[in-house]
Amino acid sequence: MGNVRSLLIISLGFLIYLFEFSVSDPDSSHNCPKTNTSLLHFTSQFVMSQHQLRGYFSIIDDCSFKVSKFDMLSGGSDVYWWGAVGDNYENLTSGFVISDEKLNTSTYKNDSFNVTLMSNVTWDDIRVVSVWKKSMASDFGHLVLKEMTESPSPSPSPSPAPAPAPSTINFTGSSVVEFDGEPTMFDNCKVLSDTYRLRWTLREDDNVIDIGLEGAIDIGNYMAFGWADPSNKKDYMLGADVAVTGFTEEGMPFVDDYHITKYSACMKNKNGRAEGVCPDIMYHNDNKVNNTILVYGHRKDGVSFIRYQRPIKSIDKNYDWDVDLKKNMTCIWALGSIRPPDSIQPLYLPENHGKTYGHVDVNISESVNECSGPLDANNKQDQDLLIAEKNEPLVVTLGPALHYPNPPNPSKVLYINKKESPLLRIERGVPVKFSIQAGHNVAFYITSDPIGGNAMSRNVSETVYAGGQMAHGVQSKPEELEWSPDRNIPNEIYYQSLYTPKMGWKIEVVDGGLSDMYNNSVLLDDQQVTFYWTLSKKSISIAARSEKKTGYLAIGFGEKMKNSFAYVGWVDGNGTGRVNTYWIDGNNVQSIHPTNENLTYVRCKSEQGIITLEFSRPLKPECDGDKKVECKNIVEPTSLLKVIWAMGAKWSADNLTDSNMHSSTSSKAVRVSLLRGSAEADEDLKPVLAVHGFMMFLAWGMFLPGGVLAARYMKNFNGDFWFKIHVYSQCSGLTITFLGILFAAAEVRGLHLHSLHVKFGILTLILGFIQPINAYFRPKEAPDGEQPLRQRVVWEYMHGYAGKLAVCIGVISIFTGLKHLGDRYNAENVKGLTCALVIWVLVGVVSVLYLEYVRGRSVRERSGGRGNFVLGDGEDEETDLLSPSTIDEGNMERIMGSSVRKEIQLEPLGR
Ligand SMILES: *[C@@H]1O[C@H](CO)[C@@H](O)[C@H](O)[C@H]1NC(C)=O
Ligand SMILES: *[C@@H]1O[C@H](CO)[C@@H](O)[C@H](O)[C@H]1NC(C)=O
Ligand SMILES: *[C@@H]1O[C@H](CO)[C@@H](O)[C@H](O)[C@H]1NC(C)=O
Ligand SMILES: *[C@@H]1O[C@H](CO)[C@@H](O)[C@H](O)[C@H]1NC(C)=O
Ligand SMILES: *[C@@H]1O[C@H](CO)[C@@H](O)[C@H](O)[C@H]1NC(C)=O
Ligand SMILES: *[C@@H]1O[C@H](CO)[C@@H](O)[C@H](O)[C@H]1NC(C)=O
Ligand SMILES: *[C@@H]1O[C@H](CO)[C@@H](O)[C@H](O)[C@H]1NC(C)=O
Ligand SMILES: *[C@@H]1O[C@H](CO)[C@@H](O)[C@H](O)[C@H]1NC(C)=O
Repeated sequence: MGNVRSLLIISLGFLIYLFEFSVSDPDSSHNCPKTNTSLLHFTSQFVMSQHQLRGYFSIIDDCSFKVSKFDMLSGGSDVYWWGAVGDNYENLTSGFVISDEKLNTSTYKNDSFNVTLMSNVTWDDIRVVSVWKKSMASDFGHLVLKEMTESPSPSPSPSPAPAPAPSTINFTGSSVVEFDGEPTMFDNCKVLSDTYRLRWTLREDDNVIDIGLEGAIDIGNYMAFGWADPSNKKDYMLGADVAVTGFTEEGMPFVDDYHITKYSACMKNKNGRAEGVCPDIMYHNDNKVNNTILVYGHRKDGVSFIRYQRPIKSIDKNYDWDVDLKKNMTCIWALGSIRPPDSIQPLYLPENHGKTYGHVDVNISESVNECSGPLDANNKQDQDLLIAEKNEPLVVTLGPALHYPNPPNPSKVLYINKKESPLLRIERGVPVKFSIQAGHNVAFYITSDPIGGNAMSRNVSETVYAGGQMAHGVQSKPEELEWSPDRNIPNEIYYQSLYTPKMGWKIEVVDGGLSDMYNNSVLLDDQQVTFYWTLSKKSISIAARSEKKTGYLAIGFGEKMKNSFAYVGWVDGNGTGRVNTYWIDGNNVQSIHPTNENLTYVRCKSEQGIITLEFSRPLKPECDGDKKVECKNIVEPTSLLKVIWAMGAKWSADNLTDSNMHSSTSSKAVRVSLLRGSAEADEDLKPVLAVHGFMMFLAWGMFLPGGVLAARYMKNFNGDFWFKIHVYSQCSGLTITFLGILFAAAEVRGLHLHSLHVKFGILTLILGFIQPINAYFRPKEAPDGEQPLRQRVVWEYMHGYAGKLAVCIGVISIFTGLKHLGDRYNAENVKGLTCALVIWVLVGVVSVLYLEYVRGRSVRERSGGRGNFVLGDGEDEETDLLSPSTIDEGNMERIMGSSVRKEIQLEPLGR
C-alpha cells in the first residue's frame, strides 16, 4: 500500500517537474536565438590581465556561459562582461557590454556562476569575451572564442595536451615542454605563507613539474622554492635543491637552479670551489646542471608571478633531487631581496631571507587547493613614482609600451623622464613644468578623464587643466608647458594624449603647504591663527590654520564675535572634517544661528590637534532677492576685511552648549587688505589722513564756501572789498586743497579708483581747479554805465554756478571721506566727526538762507519798483552780481599784490 502511495507521489512529482520544465523551457529559449552551435561546450581559461583574474569559461548554450573557479580582486562598480571582435587594443576598446549582469564589487574567491547574454548579443557577434572596467577602459582578463575543430574536451579543467612529438624526449631543462591553457593556471595550489603561494601541475609522462610561484612582494625580491635533501631531517637548507626566481632590474623574469651547501651567500672558498647558496652552474660549469627553465613571469597588482618547469627525475644527479611522487617530501621556501649583478659576479643572487622562510611537506601527486581567492597585495601600485620638482622640467617622450599599468594599451605610450607611464605626484600650488618632445602626433594634455584621447569624441565630459592641441614638440624643438595646479584640483587626474586614448597615466595631486596653495597669508591677532586666501574674479578661497592644539577653529568676519559671520571647522566623531557657517548676533549659544552659505571645496583636517580649515565662497552670495542674513555676507576686496578667530574644546553641528563656546578668542579684529595681501595695523586715525581731512574741511568747508558767500553777499560793502576776500579765500582754499591731496597721496593704501570718495574727490578737484582757469579767461568787462557784454554775462553765470557746484560736491566728498574712514577704522570717532560736519553744513545753509533773505530785501529796497524779486531767482542774482562791477584794473592790481601770480597773469587780458 505504502509503496503504491509513494510511487504515486513520485510520479506526480515527476509530472509537476515535467510541467514546470515545459513551461520554463520555452521561456529561457525565448531569448536564445539559435546561432553558431559549433561553439557549444567551448571551454577555455581567462588570460590574466589585471586584478589577479583566473578562471574557467565554458559556453552552456546560445545565450549563456558558465564561469568557474573564478578569482578576481574587487574592481569597483562598473565592471562588465564585454565582447569584442579581437583581443588587441583597438578591438577591445571598441567592444560592448554583452550581459546585463555586472560583476560583483567584492572579491571573487574560487566562485562558479552562470551568465546570460543580452537578448541582442549572439556568439556570432563576438570573438573575445572580456572582463572590462568601463570607466578606465581596462581589461581585467579575457579569452578568445575558437571553434573547436580538434580534440573537443568538455571537461572544465584543461586536460594535459597529447604530447607533441619532440617532447617524447624526457624533460631535461633545456627547452620548455608545451602545455595547454594559460600559464597562470595550475591544477594545485598550496599556501606557503600569507604572501606566498606554490602552484603546480604535475605531468608525469613528460617528466616535468610546472611550478608557479606567486608572492605579494616587492619587485626587487626573490622567491625561492625547492626540495630539501631527503636524507637530511634536521637542517633542511643544507643540501637543498631549490629554484630562485625574480625579476631583473629591467623587469624581466628569471629562474635559476640552485644548490645549497652552506648557510651563507655564494662565494668561492680558497680552493676555488663555490659554497653557500649558489646556482648549480657555479659548482659545475656545464649547462647540463641548469635544469630549471622559465616559462612565464609577470608582475601585476603588486604580485610577482613566475612559472617554471623542473624535471621530476633530473639528469643532474649531483645538485638536484628526484621528486618522489608517492610520498610526502620536505620542501623549503624563502623570500628575500636580490643582489643585482656586479663586476665580480654576473648573476642575480639572493641576499638574506630575513624571517620569511619555512619548510612544508608536499606530496606532489596529491591534489591540493588551499588557496582561497587571489593574493591581495597591500601595495598594488607598481608603477614608477615620479615626484615633480619645482624647477626641473619633466621631459615627456614616446616609447614602447612594456609594462603599461592599464591594459589594453597602444603599442607606444608616454614616457616621463624616461620612465614608462609613471605615476606622477604633484603638489597643489607648486608649478610643474613639462618639456614635451613626444612628436607632433602627440598633443599632451592634463585632464580629469582617465582614458584621455579627447573625451568629447566619446561623448564624455572632461575637464582639461593644461595642455591641448598646441602642446606637441620634438626633441630638437620641445614645447614647454608650465602649469600651476591650484588648490581645487582633485586628488587624481591624468596626463594623456589628445589624439590617442590610454597613452598616459595618473597624476596624484597632494596638498602642498598652505603657503604654496594660497597667494596670501597674514597672522591674525595674537599670532594664534594664520589666515590664507587667494582672490579670483568672483570668489575667494580661504584657509585658516590654528597654530596650537584645539578642538575646533572658527574665523569670523566682523569687528567682534557679536554681529559676525563665522566659519567653524572641526573634526566630528566619525573623523570627518566639517566646516559650518553661522551668523552670530550675541554672546551666548542661542545667538549662534547656522546659515546656509554656498561653500565649495570644503576641507577640514586635524593634525595632532592643529586644525586647518579650507573653503571657497563667492565674493557676493548669489541670493536673488533673498532676505536671508547670509546674503549680506559680502566680501569686498577693495575694502578691509575684519577677521577674528575663536578656538575651543569641542564643536558639534547640533545641540551646541555654552561649554562648546570658545575658550579663547582674538582680542581684536585684524583688518586684512585682500588686494594688497597684508594686514593693516589697527591704529586710530592715521595722522596724515587726519591732516588731509582737516585741510579739506578747511578748504571746502570754510575758505571756498566763504569765498563764494563773499562774492554774493558782500558786494554792498565798500568798493571791491568782496573781490579781495573772494580771490584770497579761493586761492588759499585751492592751495590748501592741493596740499591736502599731497597728504592723501602719502597714504593711498586701501584707496582705489572705484571708491566713492576718490570719485567725488576727483570731481571736486576738476571743478575746483577749473575755476581759476576760467577766471583767467574771463571776457572784458563793459565800461561803466554800459550794457554788460553778452560774453561777460555768460561767463559770470558759468563761473558762479560752477563755483557753487564745486563747493556742494566738495562737501559731499568730505562726507564720503568720513565714510571711508569709518569703513577702515573704528566707527565711533567718525560718527562724531560726521555729526559735527552735518551741524556745520546746517549752520551754513541756515546762514545762506538768512543772508539771501536779507539781500533780497535790500535789493528790493534799492531797486524800488523795478520788479518783483523772487529769492534765488537766477537771472536776477546774476545781473545783481554784475551790477557793482566797478573793478578797474588798478584796483585789481592792488588787491592781488605780486604774490598771487595767477591773478597777475590776468592783468594783460583785463586791459
Ligand atoms: C582588430 O582591429 C584591427 C584594426 O583596428 C583590424 O585590422 C583587425 O582585423 C581586428 N582583429 C580582429 C580579430 O577582428
Ligand atoms: C549553470 O548552468 C548549468 C547548465 O545549465 C547548470 O547545470 C548549473 O547548475 C548552473 N549553475 C548555476 C550556478 O546556476
Ligand atoms: C543591446 O541592447 C542594449 C539595450 O537593451 C543596448 O544598450 C546595447 O547597445 C545593445 N547592444 C548591441 C550590441 O546592439
Ligand atoms: C623518460 O622518463 C621515464 C620516467 O619518467 C622513463 O621511463 C623513460 O625511459 C625516459 N625516456 C627517455 C627517452 O629518457
Ligand atoms: C639556465 O638556462 C637558461 C636557458 O636554458 C638560461 O636562460 C639561464 O641563464 C641559465 N642559467 C644560468 C645560471 O646560467
Ligand atoms: C603527508 O603530509 C600530510 C600533511 O602535510 C599528511 O596529512 C599526510 O598523511 C602525509 N602523507 C604521507 C603519505 O605521509
Ligand atoms: C557618524 O556617521 C553615522 C553614519 O554615517 C551618522 O549616523 C552619525 O551621526 C555620525 N556621527 C557623527 C558624530 O557625526
Ligand atoms: C546658494 O546657491 C543657491 C543656488 O545655487 C541659492 O538658491 C542660494 O540662495 C545660495 N545661498 C547663498 C547664501 O548664497
